[in-house]
Amino acid sequence: MNSHIALTLLSVLACIFLSVDSAFTPSNVTDKEALISFQSTANLPPFFWNHSSSPCTNWTGVACNRIGGTQRVVSLDLSGLGLTGSISHHVGSLTELQVLNLARNNLSGPIPPSISNLSSTLTSLNLGTNSLTGIIPMELGFLRKLKELDLAGNQLTGTVALSIYNISSLVRFTVASNQLWGEIPSNIGVTLPNLLYFRNCFNLFTGKIPASLHNITRIRELRLSNNFHDGSVPPGLGNLPFLEMYNIGFNRIVSYGDNGLNLITSLTNSSRLSWLAIDENRLEGLIPESIGNLSKVLSKLYMGGNRIYGNIPASISQLSSLTLLNVTYNSISGEIPSEIGQLKELQVLGLARNKLSGTIPNSLGNIMKLNHVNLSGNYFVGNIPLAFSNFQKLLSMDLSDNSLNGSISGEIFLNLPSLSTILNLSNNLLSGPLPEEIGVLASVVTIDLSNNGLSGSIPSSVGKCTSLERLFIARNNLSGPLPNSLAEIRGLEILDLSSNKLSGFIPDKLQELQVLSFLNLSFNSLEGVIPNGGVFVRNISSVYLEGNWKLCRDWPCVKSGGQRRKVQVLVLIITSVLAVLVGIVVIAWLLYVRKRKGLGCKTTIRETSPDLLIKGQHQLVTYEELRSATGNFNPENLVGSGSFGTVYRGFLRQGTEVAVKVLDIKMTGSRKSFLAECEALRNVRHRNLVKLITSCSRVDFKNMEFLALVYEYLSNGSLEDWIKGKKKNADGDGLNILERLNVAIDVACGLDYLHHDCEVPVVHCDLKPSNILLDGDMTAKIGDFGLAKLLMERTEITQHSLSSTNVLKGSIGYIPPEYGFGQKPSTAGDAYSFGVMLLEIFTGKSPTDESFTGDENLIRWVQSAIPHNMIKVLDPELLDLMHCLPNEGPYLIPAEEHNCLVLIFEVGLSCTCVSPDGRSSLREALYKLETARQTLFNVESVNSQALT
Ligand SMILES: *[C@@H]1O[C@H](CO)[C@@H](O)[C@H](O)[C@H]1NC(C)=O
Ligand SMILES: *[C@@H]1O[C@H](CO)[C@@H](O)[C@H](O)[C@H]1NC(C)=O
Ligand SMILES: *[C@@H]1O[C@H](CO)[C@@H](O)[C@H](O)[C@H]1NC(C)=O
Ligand SMILES: *[C@@H]1O[C@H](CO)[C@@H](O)[C@H](O)[C@H]1NC(C)=O
Ligand SMILES: *[C@@H]1O[C@H](CO)[C@@H](O)[C@H](O)[C@H]1NC(C)=O
Repeated sequence: MNSHIALTLLSVLACIFLSVDSAFTPSNVTDKEALISFQSTANLPPFFWNHSSSPCTNWTGVACNRIGGTQRVVSLDLSGLGLTGSISHHVGSLTELQVLNLARNNLSGPIPPSISNLSSTLTSLNLGTNSLTGIIPMELGFLRKLKELDLAGNQLTGTVALSIYNISSLVRFTVASNQLWGEIPSNIGVTLPNLLYFRNCFNLFTGKIPASLHNITRIRELRLSNNFHDGSVPPGLGNLPFLEMYNIGFNRIVSYGDNGLNLITSLTNSSRLSWLAIDENRLEGLIPESIGNLSKVLSKLYMGGNRIYGNIPASISQLSSLTLLNVTYNSISGEIPSEIGQLKELQVLGLARNKLSGTIPNSLGNIMKLNHVNLSGNYFVGNIPLAFSNFQKLLSMDLSDNSLNGSISGEIFLNLPSLSTILNLSNNLLSGPLPEEIGVLASVVTIDLSNNGLSGSIPSSVGKCTSLERLFIARNNLSGPLPNSLAEIRGLEILDLSSNKLSGFIPDKLQELQVLSFLNLSFNSLEGVIPNGGVFVRNISSVYLEGNWKLCRDWPCVKSGGQRRKVQVLVLIITSVLAVLVGIVVIAWLLYVRKRKGLGCKTTIRETSPDLLIKGQHQLVTYEELRSATGNFNPENLVGSGSFGTVYRGFLRQGTEVAVKVLDIKMTGSRKSFLAECEALRNVRHRNLVKLITSCSRVDFKNMEFLALVYEYLSNGSLEDWIKGKKKNADGDGLNILERLNVAIDVACGLDYLHHDCEVPVVHCDLKPSNILLDGDMTAKIGDFGLAKLLMERTEITQHSLSSTNVLKGSIGYIPPEYGFGQKPSTAGDAYSFGVMLLEIFTGKSPTDESFTGDENLIRWVQSAIPHNMIKVLDPELLDLMHCLPNEGPYLIPAEEHNCLVLIFEVGLSCTCVSPDGRSSLREALYKLETARQTLFNVESVNSQALT
């Protein structure tokens, strides 16, 4: 029915179009006139074609055939001639044209619809790689003989008309690298039965991958990467014996569970497959054993940026033609199978940012053709294998952020003279000297050895690394002088040798480095006069020399150094005297308060939890003071209450406005939670964590316990108040996108700090909007650490050992599923709660909303709507604030906001993965949210990167 209507419509439009167009292009315009007209609009010089001869005699790029007794132009091929200007609509007058190839020029303006006057002849239309704008004219759908359509690499916009998906003769459909949007019709495989090449990558297409595409059994290339396709990979991949390339990378394709990568198993039937890319999607699952059965000609395999977990199967070593293997940014664990050394053709190996462990197998050294190896950000231990010296074609090596130890063998460098981009061994546990052989690396541009335990002096051979632009060896134990030879590295731009034990003078020769723009020598033991030329003058703000107390600006250096030392000695003496005095006072005070046992809070605390608070930085407060601060716990000062107890607002004697949380001691565990909170907040300080000012605990004369925590008071209430609309700003509005995003980033910042930057990682365990508080400047702070856990053993951070003694922690809706099975609290658990909260902030819907029944929950609901149905889940208030209320049509969200929101929802979803291993860490989430915030400020134009 529908197609009938469409066809009728088409023919009506065709009639209108034809009659209108004939007014412009009289059918009696000759081929020659049409070409001359084309020549002038495309800015070809007049002498390009000899106008006194016939086009069919000898015109460049023109081919003719005898048709109906006359010579007619059948092919016009002016590709790659640097044509500018536009395409003349007279081209439509070349009524016998079969091939029109204007690719790789710089033509601009629209595609003339008149090309469709050629409807019965044109078989190949190639306008790829130009600067054409506007829409793809729907009239191209009249080209009933067209086999090849190539419009890639232009700036075309709009949707692709249905008529074009109906050109049943099409073999090649190429519209890559434009700004086209819309969905691909689900029946494309039926309407284009001859299709062998489908390429729509680098556009803005949405919707699912049409299952019917997988029904074209002869198909050779399916390239849909870098769009916004969602949904799962449709079935049918098992029946494509001629498939050579399958690229769905950089979309939003989902899959769930251990078997989420079974598309790999299906593709084992495609024996010609040479390129498989599924990277940067949301595919979850284990790498199937069957991966080894993929085609014997498979050359490139991209799987990075997904949620892949489990081990790398040894069978992968059967992919004997593989040149690129990239599984970066997943959660793959276990050891690298030593069989990987059988991948003799491999040139690029990317295993970075996973959870791989164990030692790096020696067999890697068998891959002699390796150009790039990146194993950074895993848990590798042990030495850098000696066999790495086999990598004679290596261009870059990144082993940073692991736990590699032992010394760096000079032999490895000896055989790596080819290394030319980066050598990164930073953030490991490497020790021993920096080998002399480093000088062999004459082509390398960046060397980063920071944050290891390297000792000894810097070999002067480093001066032979003449291509070096950036050298980082900060935070090691290097000693001895700075070699003069550093000045031989003429192109050096950045030199960071900070936090070592380097001594001696700063070589004057460093002034000769003309392009040096950043120099950090701070925190060493350098001495003498600072040179006063070159970078030391040119870029004074980028030269860091602090922490070298024997350095000085002018002569006489020794004297001023001596003076400084005298001052230091004096300071030392005064400090020691003071310390002794303070000690005496403290002991006296302790003896005094011990006598007054039971009367104030202080004593009780010290007795019940000896070093709990005394060691911390919080001063204590008495019950009496809290009573007066809150007007005898006056209900008028009540700001909140919950299962934990009640919160009052009050003023301490010094006038500090505070929130006093009085714990309900009848609640079981209230004491435990009090201690947990004190302990968690004892040593942490961060702008996004509520500040604990003091605490009070005492047993009164009736032997009743009183427990209270005193925090800074945050005037803008809780995030929950804002989400539920109880709080509004002065204009009566809720939070706009940016404000919500700022809140989310604040929270992520606080959590990232707790998880990664504290001495002992802290897990909050009860993240929810009511525990996020906002201060007068709308800075969000995480509060209520009553369930917080300190992860004492570092191993706990990522492990999820089962433990039946752990009761369910947290709040319904926000607790990660694994806690229900008794797993110990983990940072991944917090990530889950954070993800739920993030979704709530932007949907306005609580995870416990009544509308979620049965299997439906907040996460699945959002998942089903992102990205193309975002309106469905977006908080209606946000739509109001964006002023995109529907007039007659649908809502229209401005592009920046739309992109930003999609990124945000993706973060929420990536944090709420069912498997804890698959979840983003708070650090990743923070990073991505910051990226999302960027998109609000810079309109991110869709790149027209080279086609993959
Ligand atoms: C085209 O046809 C029009 C009207 O029939 C006529 O006036 C004109 O001279 C013709 N042009 C050529 C180039 O034959
Ligand atoms: C152009 O073509 C005419 C007719 O064929 C010929 O006489 C003339 O030499 C040509 N001019 C050039 C520059 O080739
Ligand atoms: C065709 O062009 C070439 C070079 O432009 C010239 O050498 C040749 O003589 C021309 N032939 C004719 C038939 O004009
Ligand atoms: C694919 O082909 C199979 C078998 O011919 C058919 O049953 C199925 O409906 C087709 N799917 C689509 C989406 O066209
Ligand atoms: C490997 O994959 C990651 C994640 O998808 C990407 O960032 C990186 O550029 C890729 N590297 C190569 C060499 O393809």
